Parts: sequence; structure tokens; C-alpha cells
Amino acid sequence: MRGEKDEGSAAGGARCDEDRVIEARGIRHAYVPARPDLRDVDLDVRRGELVAVVGENGSGKTTLARHLNALVGLQAGALRVAGLDASDPSTLWELRRACGMVFQNPENQFVSSVVGEDVAFGPENFGAGGERAREAALEALRAVGLEGFERRDVHALSGGQQQRVALAGVLASGPEVVVLDEATSMIDPRGRDELMAAVERVRRELGATVVWVTHDMELAARADRVVVMGAGEVLASGAPADVLTDAALLERAGLEQPLAARTWAELVRMGAADGPAPVTVEGLVSALCG
Ligand SMILES: Nc1ncnc2c1ncn2[C@@H]1O[C@H](COP(=O)(O)OP(=O)(O)OP(=O)(O)O)[C@@H](O)[C@H]1O
Ligand SMILES: [Mg+2]
Repeated sequence: MRGEKDEGSAAGGARCDEDRVIEARGIRHAYVPARPDLRDVDLDVRRGELVAVVGENGSGKTTLARHLNALVGLQAGALRVAGLDASDPSTLWELRRACGMVFQNPENQFVSSVVGEDVAFGPENFGAGGERAREAALEALRAVGLEGFERRDVHALSGGQQQRVALAGVLASGPEVVVLDEATSMIDPRGRDELMAAVERVRRELGATVVWVTHDMELAARADRVVVMGAGEVLASGAPADVLTDAALLERAGLEQPLAARTWAELVRMGAADGPAPVTVEGLVSALCG
């Protein structure tokens, strides 16, 4: 993403010429000896893809997400992110810039209460000069639809706006990949829709690759691919239309089908519909009316 332009600004970014931006092989992790929390996890994410990672509480989603940004050190297996080897301490800083993270609680992510200063912190921290960092911040705020917000107080914003500020803070450093970990779970439905729209725009305009850890099956239904985790393992990976309609798989993973698929199953049971289940509300409407 944005690899062609200057380094150290919103227009910069670590270079990765391969089609695969994330390549994880056999990652194992145990916070406590002899109690594995990740078991031989493989994950491939292609450039520009939006991959949703779903799974019940404690299934290892956050542990996996934190590996991608080297917040959790690699104990076993191999991991390349944006062409960088996660086990190489000499490129740790570069890897952190190449893979930015947005967390659950917007309030915990700010280093300044002024939006523009907060968003400029990332590029400054990665070595960009003040003017360049400010330009990167403005560009990133534009990308998430918060143009003109640079002097606002982050604490006076809605949860959805705060998460977009957090996303802009990540984008300003010019990452290859953005990882969101439960980034919508503390904000209202409107904020969730705003954040989803901002992520879509960032993908479209900047070619960002996105890994979105979520419990929200409606959000997962809009991803290019869904990865299902259970007890530290990848149970399945595939198109939302396949994975999110697999009732047996989802039950095993402790997850529910999206509303559209559940509604469709009920209609099929009543004899009012047949054929493949839709996974989004739009898909349901067009299956019923189209
Ligand atoms: N810092 C830690 N120290 C010890 N154990 C941990 C730590 N973080 C997570 N774990 C354990 O690792 C396992 C996986 O946790 P993880 O947070 O990755 O799951 P998750 O899928 O993100 O769950 P949730 O949906 O609740 O966020 C759990 O058993 C959890 O208790
Ligand atoms: Mg988690």
C-alpha cells in the first residue's frame, strides 16, 4: 500500500513486492508453559484483501493479531509480514510500521488529546520531521473522512469518530497492513457503520490490506475471506458465503450464523425459500425480491 511514494509519511510505506502480505506458518504460542494458546496456525493474506478473523472468546484471535505487529514474540513457526521476517529483531521497528493496529478501546489509544497531534505522533515516532508528520496526519484524516477535525479534542468525539482517529493514526505511518482487533465492540451501530465505511474507503483509495478480528458476523459477512479460529487453531478459511453458512462448523466454533443466513434457514424450513443462503441483509433482500 502506498509503497511508491516517500518514506515516513502517510504517503510512505514499507515495500512488499510479493502478492502475499502476511505469510504465517505453524505459529505456536504458549503464554504459560505446556498450555498452548496457538497451535500450528497458518495464515496467508493477499495484498488488498480484507480478512475477518472470527472465533469464540479465548480462541486465540488477539494472540494471533498481536503476532502480526510483533507485540507478541514468535516462539515457534515462521511469520513474514510485508516481506519482513518477524523473528528478525533488526527489522522489528520496520515491521511495526508496516503493520498498524487499531484496538478495542478508542480511549486507550491516544497519546494527545488534539486529533491532529495524535495522528501525527506515529510518523513522528517513526522518524518523520514535524511538517512531514503533519502532512501525513492531514492526508490520513482525509482518508478516514475526518477532514477538518485536526484541532478537535479527541475526548469530545463519538466512539465511531474516535476509532476513525485511531485508524488515521495508523495510516499516517504508511502501513502495508491494518489489523483491527474488536475495533467496533465498544462503539454504537452508527459508529460501527462509519468505521466500516472508512475501512472500505481506505481499501479502495489506498489499497490497504486489512485483517479484522471481530465477533460481529454481519461485519465478517462483508469480508473477502473469513478465518474461523477455535481453541488456538484455524478451523476453516474461505469465502463468507461458504464459511458463514456452514452450521456444523460454526456450532463447533461456538459462533452464530449471520442474521441473513439464519432467516434464510427459517424460510427454507417453512418451505418459503430454497437455494444457497445469503450472508448479508442486502443478499437476503435480493434473494427474496430479485
Ligand atoms: N497476556 C496473557 N497471559 C496469559 N494468558 C493469556 C494472555 N493473553 C491471552 N491469554 C490466554 O490465551 C488464550 C487466547 O487468548 P486471546 O486473547 O488470544 O483470545 P481471543 O480469541 O482474542 O479472545 P476474546 O474473544 O475474548 O478477545 C486464552 O486462553 C487466554 O486466556
Ligand atoms: Mg481478543
